[in-house]
Amino acid sequence: MISQTERVPAGVEGAVLDSFVESGVAGPDGLRLAEVPFVPGVRLHLAEDAIVLRARLEAKAGGALPSPFWADAWIGGQAVARYVLDHPEVVAGRRVLDVASGSGLVAIAAAVAGAAVVTANDVDPYALAAIRLNAGANGVAVGVRPGDLLDGDGDGAEVVLAGDVFYSRSMAERMLRFLERAAARGARVLVGDPGRAYLPHDRLEVVASYQVSMMGAPEDAEIRQAHVLQPSR
Ligand SMILES: C[S@@+](CC[C@H](N)C(=O)[O-])C[C@H]1O[C@@H](n2cnc3c(N)ncnc32)[C@H](O)[C@@H]1O
Repeated sequence: MISQTERVPAGVEGAVLDSFVESGVAGPDGLRLAEVPFVPGVRLHLAEDAIVLRARLEAKAGGALPSPFWADAWIGGQAVARYVLDHPEVVAGRRVLDVASGSGLVAIAAAVAGAAVVTANDVDPYALAAIRLNAGANGVAVGVRPGDLLDGDGDGAEVVLAGDVFYSRSMAERMLRFLERAAARGARVLVGDPGRAYLPHDRLEVVASYQVSMMGAPEDAEIRQAHVLQPSR
């Protein structure tokens, strides 16, 4: 069940990011706790420079790691997180799954908005460590669920949320099928996206639109329109 909180997989301890958190002095290879202006009241540990952070993480791990997507607040995630705060009735008292959670931004917003149980899922164990760190920084309870859930239908969650998940063809194809299965069994499904190339426009309908700016990635710092979407009925 999604209410089960699982441990970060062996090899990546929950405290793995502690030494990367700034202790008052800004540095390009660390994480700083920052407000997310578009998602009022939520703070995240974000990269000063994701490339430099990745290099330091890899040096510490002794090998290649996936890009630290969890160290950015993605535009689509900001949009769906803001939507949940603006419409708390969508999640209040419900079991919520944030799939491909990254930093945990959307999961944290759902918890702040009054969800009964929030589970954040990601395949990257470092994301799970970041979610724990960020949930703690915001004083909310978020369970982490490792592994790939995309062949399922959302594990019984009443609300399934996803921020910025249509960034590659293979991810988009699997994610759409997953979200459609969740919606077909009755879950409320909401996705945030800034109009990425693999967004399946024809299978989703727009629920809300926002003007959002990316944090933590200078090349995406400009204001962009982001949509909150749901599977077409
Ligand atoms: C672009 S980031 C978005 C993160 C977050 N939702 C946000 O909006 O800020 C995509 C995330 O998807 C995760 N991911 C990729 N494939 C996945 C899968 N099959 N299941 C779960 N998470 C996955 C990555 O590790 C990454 O954290």
